[in-house]
Amino acid sequence: MTTPSPAPASRIVIAGGSGFVGQALATRFVGQGHDVVVLTRSARARTDGMREVAWNGRMLGDWATELDGAAVVINLTGKSINSRHTEKNRREIISSRVESVRAIAGAIAVGSAPPPVWVQASAVGIYGNAGDVLCDESAPHGHDFMADVCEQWEGAFREALTPASRGVVLRFGVVLGREGGALPMLARLARFGLGGTVGSGRQYISWIHRDDMVAVVQRAITSRMVGPYNACTHVPETNASFMKRLRKAVRRPWSPPAPAFAVKLGSYVIGAESSVALGGQRCVPRRLDEERFVFAHENLSESLKQLLS
Ligand SMILES: NC(=O)c1ccc[n+]([C@@H]2O[C@H](COP(=O)([O-])OP(=O)(O)OC[C@H]3O[C@@H](n4cnc5c(N)ncnc54)[C@H](OP(=O)(O)O)[C@@H]3O)[C@@H](O)[C@H]2O)c1
Repeated sequence: MTTPSPAPASRIVIAGGSGFVGQALATRFVGQGHDVVVLTRSARARTDGMREVAWNGRMLGDWATELDGAAVVINLTGKSINSRHTEKNRREIISSRVESVRAIAGAIAVGSAPPPVWVQASAVGIYGNAGDVLCDESAPHGHDFMADVCEQWEGAFREALTPASRGVVLRFGVVLGREGGALPMLARLARFGLGGTVGSGRQYISWIHRDDMVAVVQRAITSRMVGPYNACTHVPETNASFMKRLRKAVRRPWSPPAPAFAVKLGSYVIGAESSVALGGQRCVPRRLDEERFVFAHENLSESLKQLLS
C-alpha cells in the first residue's frame, strides 16, 4: 500500500530538520510539492526547494510565524546522544530536547492557526537497557540515562500539546541510511577490520530502514495515529548477528570481537559514548501493526547490502 502524502502544497515545519532524519523527510516532502521549512541554528540560503529559518531551539523569535497556519510540525531537535556523557553533555542532551518542545508550544500559543498535527521524535531508549525482554509500547520504561532523557522529552511533549493538534510520538530505533546516523560509521569500522561483536553481543539493536522511517512519518501525518509508536521493524537483531551481517555486507567475514573494556576505552578516545553500543532494546512495532503499517524493508542483510552497495 502506498502512503498518501499530506494535502497538496501544505507547509511542513521540521525543527531540527538539518540532520540525517530531517533531510530524508524534507527531501521527500519537497518532492511532493510541499513548502518545507527547516528550523535550524545555522540557517543558510538553499536552492533545493527547502527554506531554512533561524531559531535557537529555546526562545521565541520571528521563526514562530512559520508555525501559524502550517499543516504539520515535526520536531527532531536534539544534541547527539553519541557524545561522551559528561555532566555538561548530559544537560545539553536533555535541555536541547525539552526546550525545543517548549519553544514550539510557545510559538503555537501565539499563533492563530495551530498545526493540526505535531509529530515528535523520541527513541526506543525509553525502555532502558532491557536485555532480551520484548518491548512493545506498553513495556515499562527503563531507569538509565537514555530512558530518563526520553521520559523528560515525551513528558514535555505531553504537557505542551493542546487539543488543537493531534500529537504523535515516534520512538525511533536505529535508523539505517547511507547519508548519516550510525550506519556509515559502523561500515567504516567494519571495512577497517573493526566490525567484531561488541561486548557480549547479546544486546539487541532495534532498527528501521530510512525509507520505512519516512513512510512511518508520512503515515503519522495522514492517518489518525495518536500517542507513542515504536518506529522499528519486527526483527530486532542481537549485536552479534547485526555485526556479522554488516561484515558480510562489506565483505570482511571476520573481525576480532571488541570486549566491553576495549569499547569503553575506544569510545573514550574518540569522544563517543560506550553505553550506546553496549546496551540495547528488543522492540516490536505493535501499534504500527494495529495501524496496518507495512514495512518495505525487514530483511537486515538485504537492507545493509542495498544501503552499502
Ligand atoms: N538517527 C537515529 O538512528 C535515531 C534513533 C533514535 C532517535 N533519534 C532521534 O531523532 C532525532 C533526529 O535524529 P537525527 O539522526 O536526524 O539527528 P541529527 O542528525 O543529530 O539532527 C538533530 C538536529 O538537532 C539540532 N541540534 C543538535 N544539537 C542541538 C542543540 N544543542 N540545540 C538545538 N538544536 C540542536 C541540529 O540542528 P542545527 O544544528 O541545524 O540547529 C541537528 O540537525 C534526534 O532527536 C534523535 O535523538 C534518531
